[in-house]
Amino acid sequence: MNDNFAKDVLVGLTAEYKHLSSKYFYDDNGSRIFQEIMKMPEYYLTDAEFEILSMQSKQIFEALKFSKPFNIIELGPGDGFKTYKLLEYLVNQKVDFKYLPIDISQEAIDILSNTLNQRLPELKVEPRVGDYFEVLSDIKDSDSPSLLLFLGSNIGNYKTDQIIELLKLFNDNMKLGDKLLIGIDLKKNPITIHNAYYDKHGITKRFNLNLLLRINRELDADFKIDDFDFYCHYNPDNGEVKSYIVSLRHQKVHIKKLNKIIDFEYNELIWTELSKKFDFDEINDLAQRSNFKVNTNFLDCKHLFTDSLWEK
Ligand code: AVI
Repeated sequence: MNDNFAKDVLVGLTAEYKHLSSKYFYDDNGSRIFQEIMKMPEYYLTDAEFEILSMQSKQIFEALKFSKPFNIIELGPGDGFKTYKLLEYLVNQKVDFKYLPIDISQEAIDILSNTLNQRLPELKVEPRVGDYFEVLSDIKDSDSPSLLLFLGSNIGNYKTDQIIELLKLFNDNMKLGDKLLIGIDLKKNPITIHNAYYDKHGITKRFNLNLLLRINRELDADFKIDDFDFYCHYNPDNGEVKSYIVSLRHQKVHIKKLNKIIDFEYNELIWTELSKKFDFDEINDLAQRSNFKVNTNFLDCKHLFTDSLWEK
């Protein structure tokens, strides 16, 4: 049993306002459902970032202004689909660099390395499995400049104080002149955002309810999935999408490995995820508070999303 998972589930489901962390969405099944989400036309984030990285690779490279061989370090590359275009451009231009994808999943890293070896055999790949910061502190000692990639709007899933803490940790592990390219979803027509998260196919609902299946499997619980639903809401005033699981009746759930019976009221909520959207003032503020300078905001043609290039 994963101890942190058990502890977090216990704390979250016994709190006055129940909550579970979206970081636990990504078991094998959850990761597959997330791939489905990224393929939905409504989930504009993936296409927008793919467009930026494929159409503006040259501009991104030029903005780096690295004068010697460099590292590209990607935190949580997933299947590497978006980054591929940037890597391909650099390889074709015979730029001297190394690619270091870091992921906690050995399986994800193996698949990515195989794909890259086949499709871009000239690319120098040094995959790492493990905790971001252990690997990052190794890289700080390297003589080569580094570009850190944190793509896909991952920062949107953290609360502001956690984002600042994370960005400061990145900053502490970077050298002067190193760059960070960070994927950030922008505030926009609220209907566009609503449709991306409250999707009509019910894929995001499955993504959320999978967390209950995970608790059933890993903590020996008896959640009846049909007795729960999914709700989410975008608040255009603060840019927050908040996602919830809803209990459809008054019910008790036994979580054997926690030795606990959890009581759910009719219509009680479990808050599962925050997906925050930003404007440019907020982006500048985040950069400043974590000791970065914003260099360039690379935007897709519809201005839905930015890959924001920051400098230490
Ligand atoms: C991974 N993360 C940036 C996604 C997001 O948009 O917040 C996860 C997700 N949740 C629902 N749909 C996608």
